[in-house]
Amino acid sequence: MPAAATHSSRLLAIVAIFFSSYILGIYSAARASSQQVQQVQQLEAPLASQNDSLDLQAGTNSSLARSDSRHPRWFPFYTIGRFSNDICTGNNLLLGTCVISGECSDNSGVGAGSCSTITSQAICCIYQRTCGASTSYNNTYFYNSNYPAPYAGGGRCSIVVTPPDSSICQLRVDFLALSLAPPTGDGLCSTDALTITGGASQVPSICGENSGQHVYVDFNGVSPITISVATSAGYTFNRQWQLQIRMLGCSSATLAPSGCLQYYMPTSGTFASFNYVSAASSALNSIGVQGTRQLANTRYGICIRKAAGICSITYRQVGSDTYSFTLTNDVGAVDPALLATSSVQSQDCTTDYIVIPAPTQGGVSLASDRFCGLGLVSTTTSAKPFVVYTVTDGNEDMDISNRGFYLSYSQNACPIL
Ligand SMILES: *[C@@H]1O[C@H](CO)[C@@H](O)[C@H](O)[C@H]1NC(C)=O
Ligand SMILES: *[C@@H]1O[C@H](CO)[C@@H](O)[C@H](O)[C@H]1NC(C)=O
Ligand SMILES: *[C@@H]1O[C@H](CO)[C@@H](O)[C@H](O)[C@H]1NC(C)=O
Repeated sequence: MPAAATHSSRLLAIVAIFFSSYILGIYSAARASSQQVQQVQQLEAPLASQNDSLDLQAGTNSSLARSDSRHPRWFPFYTIGRFSNDICTGNNLLLGTCVISGECSDNSGVGAGSCSTITSQAICCIYQRTCGASTSYNNTYFYNSNYPAPYAGGGRCSIVVTPPDSSICQLRVDFLALSLAPPTGDGLCSTDALTITGGASQVPSICGENSGQHVYVDFNGVSPITISVATSAGYTFNRQWQLQIRMLGCSSATLAPSGCLQYYMPTSGTFASFNYVSAASSALNSIGVQGTRQLANTRYGICIRKAAGICSITYRQVGSDTYSFTLTNDVGAVDPALLATSSVQSQDCTTDYIVIPAPTQGGVSLASDRFCGLGLVSTTTSAKPFVVYTVTDGNEDMDISNRGFYLSYSQNACPIL
């Protein structure tokens, strides 16, 4: 073979390798970005090393630029290590997203440990925000300035949550910590209030002690959701909050059914009214007697996910706490031994009450589904979905020293026929 021919066929081979790998690179880049997978170029370069004459020494750290999936330039000469932008648990135990460290710092995230075995450049990025922020990141944490140090009060502190795209339908907001000034003795959040606006559903104004509580809010498809904490500097109190804001996809298995402000997924557990604490309120109400802890003017559903093979659900007062169902009437006027018994349970309810649809007690069906008074005996229902509806009105005058409710639930397997 003539020397010239050998030379040109070698050239052809080089060009062919170059182009085929380049096209491969573009292809995988496009695939990667459509799958929202991030790519990292590794130092090994088998395509290049297959032919030393190409002598393309790839692999400097500068090529580890973020957002590589959108810039496939350097692709042909590297093998591609991939990791997906999964949810990760940071070494601070908060939830984050696994991203390239540069992307994390560019988006004002905080790296909390590595999250990929493919590359040390991938870190668990935690998004933490305080007053005046906006976010589109899943699992953003919203807290008072200087958290966990308390905030003395004054002004309004808000975060605006915009879904990144139309695949997000709902927010779950977990009150990891939420301690605000208590409501008045009439159950009004007039000193401090957490409000959540802009969603498709109404969230009551919330104040007092609510760590461990949560709410679900649907996006309305048009506006962002604003979470806002308003506090009064004139009232001395150690406020503190840290809320976890979780975005749920429209087809997520953990989406709360529409209309449920709260949603419990375990087979058994407990739930309580907002600001529930066993101790009485120290505030007086408008007629000068010891006020209620219950928040006034609420109407919402507390839903429980029915587990497989379950036919009914039973609600009980949390036994260790005799005040765990004190919704109407004067707690102090009743012999404490009678609290939580059938003698102080009422179904004649027009002001503050809970609704348990199609209830039975001791195997007997009850005519009314409303419960109020100062006691609730074990109540079972087969009505589905499992939901307890709660109502409070705006007049708490006669609800002296009430706490609200703190109930346990357990789901009952279907009978074997
Ligand atoms: C590498 O280049 C040589 C010419 O230097 C060529 O003959 C050979 O086919 C190439 N090898 C590969 C694997 O493409
Ligand atoms: C690449 O980065 C690693 C740490 O990330 C460092 O140890 C190494 O020296 C860097 N190499 C070059 C060529 O910059
Ligand atoms: C957001 O994070 C939660 C975990 O807190 C996860 O269950 C959920 O699927 C994530 N949402 C999206 C849209 O990825």
